[in-house]
Amino acid sequence: MAILKEPDFGTPKSKAATMVSLEIDGIKVSVPEGTSVMRAARQVGQEVPSLCAADMLDAWGSCRMCLVEIEGARGTPASCTTPVREGMKVKTQTQRLEKIRRGVMELYISDHPLDCLTCAANGDCELQDTAGEVGLRDVRYGFEGEKHFGAGADPKDESNPYFTFDSSKCIVCSRCVRACEEVQGTFALTIQGRGFDSKVSAGIMADDFFGSECVSCGACVQACPTATLREKAVHEHGVPNRSVLTTCAYCGVGCSFKAELQGDQVIRMVPHKDGGANEGHSCVKGRFAWGYATHKDRVTTPMIREKTTDPWKEVSWDEAIHYAAQRFRTIQEKHGKGSIGGITSSRCTNEEVYAVQKLIRAAFGNNNVDTCARVCHSPTGYGLKTTLGTSAGTQDFKSVEQSDVILVIGANPTDGHPVFASRMKKRLREGAKLIVADPRRIDLVRSPHVAASHHLQLRPGTNVALMNALAHVVVTEGLVDEAFVAERCEAREFDRWRTFVAEERNSPEALEEKTGVPADDVRAAARLYATGGNAAIYYGLGVTEHSQGSTMVMAMANLAMATGNIGREGVGINPLRGQNNVQGSCDMGSFPHEFSGYRHVSDDKVRTLFEGDWGVKLSPEPGLRIPNMFAAAVEGSFRGLFVQGEDIAQSDPNTRHVTAALEAMECIVVQDLFLNETAAYAHVFFPGTSFLEKDGTFTNAERRINRVRPVMAEKNGGMAEWDAVCRLARAMGYNMHYDSASDIMDEIARLTPTFKGVSFARLDREGSMQWPVDDAAPNGTPTMHVAGFVRGKGRFMITEYVPTEERTNRSFPLILTTGRILSQYNVGAQTRRTENSRWHEVDRLEIHPFDAEERGIADGDMVSIQSRMGAVTLPAMISERMPQGVVYTTFHHPTSGSNVITTDQSDWATNCPEYKVTAVQVARSNQPSEWQMELENLYETNYRRAAVEPAE
Ligand code: SF4
Ligand code: SF4
Ligand code: SF4
Ligand code: FES
Repeated sequence: MAILKEPDFGTPKSKAATMVSLEIDGIKVSVPEGTSVMRAARQVGQEVPSLCAADMLDAWGSCRMCLVEIEGARGTPASCTTPVREGMKVKTQTQRLEKIRRGVMELYISDHPLDCLTCAANGDCELQDTAGEVGLRDVRYGFEGEKHFGAGADPKDESNPYFTFDSSKCIVCSRCVRACEEVQGTFALTIQGRGFDSKVSAGIMADDFFGSECVSCGACVQACPTATLREKAVHEHGVPNRSVLTTCAYCGVGCSFKAELQGDQVIRMVPHKDGGANEGHSCVKGRFAWGYATHKDRVTTPMIREKTTDPWKEVSWDEAIHYAAQRFRTIQEKHGKGSIGGITSSRCTNEEVYAVQKLIRAAFGNNNVDTCARVCHSPTGYGLKTTLGTSAGTQDFKSVEQSDVILVIGANPTDGHPVFASRMKKRLREGAKLIVADPRRIDLVRSPHVAASHHLQLRPGTNVALMNALAHVVVTEGLVDEAFVAERCEAREFDRWRTFVAEERNSPEALEEKTGVPADDVRAAARLYATGGNAAIYYGLGVTEHSQGSTMVMAMANLAMATGNIGREGVGINPLRGQNNVQGSCDMGSFPHEFSGYRHVSDDKVRTLFEGDWGVKLSPEPGLRIPNMFAAAVEGSFRGLFVQGEDIAQSDPNTRHVTAALEAMECIVVQDLFLNETAAYAHVFFPGTSFLEKDGTFTNAERRINRVRPVMAEKNGGMAEWDAVCRLARAMGYNMHYDSASDIMDEIARLTPTFKGVSFARLDREGSMQWPVDDAAPNGTPTMHVAGFVRGKGRFMITEYVPTEERTNRSFPLILTTGRILSQYNVGAQTRRTENSRWHEVDRLEIHPFDAEERGIADGDMVSIQSRMGAVTLPAMISERMPQGVVYTTFHHPTSGSNVITTDQSDWATNCPEYKVTAVQVARSNQPSEWQMELENLYETNYRRAAVEPAE
């Protein structure tokens, strides 16, 4: 499509229910009370010129361009700051107004460089457009006086890798400052000085943008009406001339973007205001870190090799597919049907994931399919399905705008889910209360204009104990919503649970020693959650990646049901999903025991439905989970694996065990963008496609199904993943064929009740939809469990606290926990191939000053981290964010090897690994660990392994 310009109504939409009628230039209009005159005028197509207004920002009233005349009112008020009144008569275009506007514009232009023709914003500049709009032809003031451009102007700030700041073009409209405050919530910018000396500054303490508090979200760049703040890509390539709407491929927020191109060159990604998940906002990853799609490391030709010690040989797609099929078939002939399987990825589209699980069930003839959600949110699926009936979060993101109390548990939204964090922070600035339960003092605990009422700084591994203590207070202090429970929940289960949590051993006082959280804080937090109005829970991997991950999810559901905080806007239980399509990969049936829509493979009715559609007999036996696949590989019965878009050698726990399993297999097929760590053990490599090449859908953490559209004309590997998967299925003897990704979605909709009303045509026409989309909810379901729970009555579950078997002792006295940082993403395969690495070049070990001092560790020292499983060496970072006794690291760089030290402990119900609790010792060290030295050798070997013999 041509460039998509979204209308800007100048001021935000009013949420008032009362309507006000007025007349603008003789046109009658009715708008909600509180709407500005500017917005009302623009709604009826009357253009009022403006410079300091934008509808994502509150009205400011500084530029004086938007003046109007109002019958009976004195002077010429600014339309952006004047609210509508009943019966008002407004004129937006009179000779008097034209003259004033031209005069104001003259003043702006007299202090602006007249280099429009060579300016990066030429053709995309509101100042230029407005000058034209008001008919400016001449500047009477001349250009001789004091100016902000030319000799003496501040130098251009090019420190940010993605955008420039050229103050000579600034009109000091404050849109950037307000965007940083109101939309992003970082407060990195300020207006320094007064009068003529006023200028935008990236903080008083910082020399430039890069050194400031700026998190590079891009909101200020988007808000700037001039070329002052502008993407470097626009400087380099010029203003884009066409747009493609698509979805970010990083985190589970699932932001919508306009990919803006010039011909086939992607120039920039601009957040889409109509995007349901992000409503026009973005973070540094989605906005700027997409360059990996054309990185030189992309592998774009299929490759094969007999042994992993051989060099790779480039071959045609046909040859690679038939080679893989033949090796898989040979394994099955020798070791049986169940000796091979596959792993799907939450980075891939719903259609790609669906195709892989079908390949495995229909062509491999078993249910050995699992997904990377196994290692992150599988307990969410289990816990929410057991208690509420659906394996998904209950709200849309917008719901947080109605919350009065927000409980964030085991999540760090400002780093992991930044766009949602901005929305949440806005609500907190409006007065909602915040409770944070996290061992670390995450940014939310105290950031500009946001402070948690309670930070429950619990010991890693004691989530369930803390949750039981909160529930104890609710039950024993009479804070249960009895009417809700009586009407909506199973009575017998509730009574059992009430008796259980009321036991003295579950009181905050009894559990204080275990959790480390003062009982008074727990009591106060529980009272706030239960009585503070709409209370919502948001949680992340700090909840799920524990040996009691599923128990904890059920404990949160218990608490929400007991207090009636479920089934309407502003409340609920919301998993902040890690990867872009975790929800989708789970929905699509890539678990070994479930078809799409979470239906068990042993259910005859469901199996018959799939057998009828797919024309093949399907196994009723659940297949192997990822850890079982590894165990069976080491033991010798599992010999072949298809891995799509997932780097298990780096992301799964206990690396030595994983690599032993990979080494033991006879055939591994990797489908990916890059030769990742897992590819070192592979025999066949299928090139994958980046999100800029894909056609399909992602489903975000709100169950929102969003279109992903091909932005780049060519697929770098020449073939869509689902197409390669279909060809592999055919080469293995099962006739699997689709004409397009849209065809796959039609099949998903045909066989999956919650997707019944979904099709590409509808998504293209109507925009994103939240499942279930069915006869009962033809337009989707923003809030779940409104009239009743999906399972009928809500089910309270007993959540006995069972401490993890991973214990500290004298040899391993500290607990290591892990997490992410804003600029990097998971194993870093994408973000490490962008300028984002400038913010985070290495992983570091955060350690409390006392723990560091006790060990003679200074900031920046190399330290060895030793667990029962292994050791790695990282630089230390002394940090008061950590409590004493707990250390923390990210895992974005393969050489850090944090999974070398994580253990085999996992969630009792789902096998989700316990990444968040590893007993370790930390000591100064001046050399890499044994594993890291081995890794260096492995890189050497991999280098050889990665050597490619071109096709003849
Ligand atoms: S990029 Fe974002 S965080 Fe940085 S100054 Fe602009 S609005 Fe603020
Ligand atoms: S940098 Fe842009 S948005 Fe900020 S004050 Fe200057 S012109 Fe306005
Ligand atoms: S918040 Fe998540 S989905 Fe949105 S732009 Fe950032 S990484 Fe992408
Ligand atoms: S747009 Fe109204 S004063 Fe600037």
